[in-house]
Amino acid sequence: MVASVRVVPTAPIDGQKPGTSGLRKRVKVFQQPHYTENFVQSIFTAMPTPGPLNATIVVGGDGRYFMRDAIHTIISIGAANGISNFIIGKDGILSTPAASALIRKRQADGGIILTASHNPGGPQNDFGIKYNIRNGGPAPESVTDAIYRASCEISEYKVTQLDTKVDLSIVGSQSFDGFSVEIVDPVQDYVELLREIFDFELIRDFRLKNPNFKLLFDALNGVTGPYGKRIFVEELGFSENSSLEQCTPLEDFGGCHPDPNLTYAHTLVERVNREHVDLGAASDGDGDRNMILSHDWFVTPSDSVAVIAHYATECIPYFKSTGIRGLARSMPTSCAIDRVAKAKGITSLFEVPTGWKFFGNLMDAGRLSICGEESFGTGSDHIREKDGIWAIVAWLNIIAYVSQKSSNFSVRSIMLDFYQQYGRNYFTRYDYEEVDADGAEKMITHLRSMAYLEKDGGIIGAVFNGYEVARVDDFEYVDPIDNSISKNQGLRIIFTDSSRIVFRLSGTGSQGATVRIYIERYDDKHIDLDAQVALKPLVDNALNISKLLEFTGRKEPTVIT
Ligand code: G6P
Ligand code: ZN
Repeated sequence: MVASVRVVPTAPIDGQKPGTSGLRKRVKVFQQPHYTENFVQSIFTAMPTPGPLNATIVVGGDGRYFMRDAIHTIISIGAANGISNFIIGKDGILSTPAASALIRKRQADGGIILTASHNPGGPQNDFGIKYNIRNGGPAPESVTDAIYRASCEISEYKVTQLDTKVDLSIVGSQSFDGFSVEIVDPVQDYVELLREIFDFELIRDFRLKNPNFKLLFDALNGVTGPYGKRIFVEELGFSENSSLEQCTPLEDFGGCHPDPNLTYAHTLVERVNREHVDLGAASDGDGDRNMILSHDWFVTPSDSVAVIAHYATECIPYFKSTGIRGLARSMPTSCAIDRVAKAKGITSLFEVPTGWKFFGNLMDAGRLSICGEESFGTGSDHIREKDGIWAIVAWLNIIAYVSQKSSNFSVRSIMLDFYQQYGRNYFTRYDYEEVDADGAEKMITHLRSMAYLEKDGGIIGAVFNGYEVARVDDFEYVDPIDNSISKNQGLRIIFTDSSRIVFRLSGTGSQGATVRIYIERYDDKHIDLDAQVALKPLVDNALNISKLLEFTGRKEPTVIT
């Protein structure tokens, strides 16, 4: 036990309720007196049994502004609460997937990840603190509720008085009075894991045989820069100069919005088109999201996970050995992966609400191998977070494999082949950001009233632009492992031809409300239309039925994916 502990009196501070992505606020909020200390103490107070005494925790983050301060606070308060071993990424760096992998590999009791994911960073922007449990995944609601309760009841926190500050820049162990700190290479263990999962040899061989193949990875100045450099350049042999962009983690992400989509990663999209890049890819601030594209194709995340599932047991060593235990997607994600499950006879298939946390139970129960979300999240049971670099290497592995059998191994040909076999689930998402919260709620209430009218007919049977409404409901999920029920997870209008329109309010926006409309239509005859053209009548239906303009005053979406 640490000898030099000081007890600091404090009082509860409002609003420390973590979501499943942790507590996310403006940096300025975290900088208020006692704010970070109160929350960190609450984590240790609420740490699942047996609690912090003699525990090992992993600590690291995406490099954003205020991260180092938070790490020193965590060491000080953690040690005073009995943590005996801190495993910390060098300079505090750990991508979210790498942190999840490290918690699992070292059998740590938990981890604290410092990130606000894809939200902008810097003194004027966002910071976040997230607690992960021993399976490497985000804390479930029972734990985040306990953290919140502790933050409402807190009257003091404990700090350790250290003679010398922990040096985050030197890999190796440092011993202090009653605890130790191990600074680790943030990339090493993660690379070893990916080496076991994928066929690096095949990818290297592919690169040598196809020296003109262009890869371009953009880390958006987030945490994955060093991971990308190590994996794509040092392990797989791609050129550092032409294959990497924005790969130095910056505290403010260079002023950019580190979210890999066509809007926020537009510089990548432009360069991919200009330079005829064969595989363009990006990940977000903390490295769990990904985007895949080429100069002549954009792979929607819904298709990406389906393609990975299709090829997994053919060419990815990890899945060759484990087989596919099950597949899953979030409800608004297109049903392309369902078709793969059906064709391959995989009966373990799940549709969960939006949020990666819903996959964790299924993975722990051995019923899920590969899953994804339309919100640029793709991953597998190798860890308990989604994994951006994993998805990109999966695509390289697939391209290398396809190149052995065919000279058509472009992203576009891979997609068209996939659609030939399965048909195409056209998909698009319209986001209306920073909408007046009241108007957005009213719109949802209006839609919900249609769902409840279903038993009396409602709009069932009504025809809009040639699409006949078969069903309207509000998605509800019963977790098959712990039987917990999640209600009101999105309004769905399902048409007789299986086309769908889904309406949700985002759970992650920080200003006003964000309305998301997801639109999907299946077609097995015309597979190479522009998605916006193929979905236009359904988009019009969505806007008409929801009366979006009337309720929100918005004519155009902020982002289309
Ligand atoms: C985070 C979660 C994802 C979720 C996404 C979208 O990235 O980790 O699992 O899909 O947010 O959430 P939203 O509520 O904004 O649509
Ligand atoms: Zn993220």
